[in-house]
Amino acid sequence: MIQNYGQQDLSKININQFRFLKTEEIVTNGEFCKKLEKKISKICGSKYSLVCNNGTSALLMSILSLKKKNLVVILPNINFVAAPNIISLLKGKIVLCDINEETGMVDYEKFKNCIKICKKRKIKPNIFIPIHYAGNILELQNISKICRKNKIDIIEDGCHSFGSKKKIAQKKISVGDCKFSKLTTFSFHPVKNITTLEGGAITTNSKKLYEKLKLLRSHSLRKTYINDPYTMVSPTLNFRMPEINAIVGIDQIKKINIFRQKRNKIILLYKKQLSHLENFFSILNFYDKNLFWHIFVIKLKNPKIKRRLMNFLKSNKIGCQIHYKPIFMHSAFKKNIISNDNKSSINFYNSQLTLPLFTKMSINEVKKIVKKIELFFDKYQ
Ligand SMILES: Cc1ncc(COP(=O)(O)O)c(C=O)c1O
Repeated sequence: MIQNYGQQDLSKININQFRFLKTEEIVTNGEFCKKLEKKISKICGSKYSLVCNNGTSALLMSILSLKKKNLVVILPNINFVAAPNIISLLKGKIVLCDINEETGMVDYEKFKNCIKICKKRKIKPNIFIPIHYAGNILELQNISKICRKNKIDIIEDGCHSFGSKKKIAQKKISVGDCKFSKLTTFSFHPVKNITTLEGGAITTNSKKLYEKLKLLRSHSLRKTYINDPYTMVSPTLNFRMPEINAIVGIDQIKKINIFRQKRNKIILLYKKQLSHLENFFSILNFYDKNLFWHIFVIKLKNPKIKRRLMNFLKSNKIGCQIHYKPIFMHSAFKKNIISNDNKSSINFYNSQLTLPLFTKMSINEVKKIVKKIELFFDKYQ
């Protein structure tokens, strides 16, 4: 089945583990969640981690934990709607930063320019939420220096890149290590690198933030004493992860290296089989055995044919998707957006297309997709 661009891989899950829950008193936010948190910290290289019910909640809790009075957040224009939705609900302002057309991510120059424009317009951003797009890793060292100077806290949106690692200037970087940020958020939605069915996590190296997040996850109720058992610290909601999801997550983490290798193998195969079509499109994904690619992205040289290609793939039961429509194009956000330079985001959006990538894809399925793409471009030869 390749009718979606991504799909969970729950094969060989040991269902005996679920029987244990019947005799356990705590079936949400219990021992399995704690075990999963330890494993996440180990993979990411963070001091603390905290699981929750999805990646959107992870972003919301992270923003709340930083307690900004006048919330002004810099977001990449190529973005999922989760972060802008949250900021809109919190009545904050969104400053959109353009992206680098090669990577789909913000880069140092674009960020520097965004800060320059903010200064000119007397806008004072206090949070920046960059995305590690598609499974790649954004280099944050220099960007974080600008942030420090301007009192901007960084929350990394690592929803695409759980388990990705890279060597940058001889230093090992893992998404979620929070070396240049306060917090990193993850989603464990079924199409992501690993899944807990629905779920999310936050990593941090700050004990203070970790303690705050624990409260925020569960109604902000702090235990006090027997005849007045709790006090409410600040308004929040319930973002807890059920134990059954944590069991799935622990099982997925056991397979993380196999998943990474499988995705990398598919990337290599795609690259090899599609290389003769480089006049029509380029491929964003590059090979690095330590990266954990979430989506496979092509960029069309002639964006005018994108709709036709999408319809052709869909009529051949091949799932495809666009990641993402620039945020300024969603009319719902118009009122609270401050938008600067959108040029590269528009170019990226016009040319970008996501093709299927998931661990359960067979070599034959990749070859079938390649054959269909060749067939489509035959008429343009
Ligand atoms: C970049 C990004 N941020 C945030 C989210 C939100 O995660 P969730 O769907 O688990 O709420 C997603 C999920 O698709 C995402 O891709």
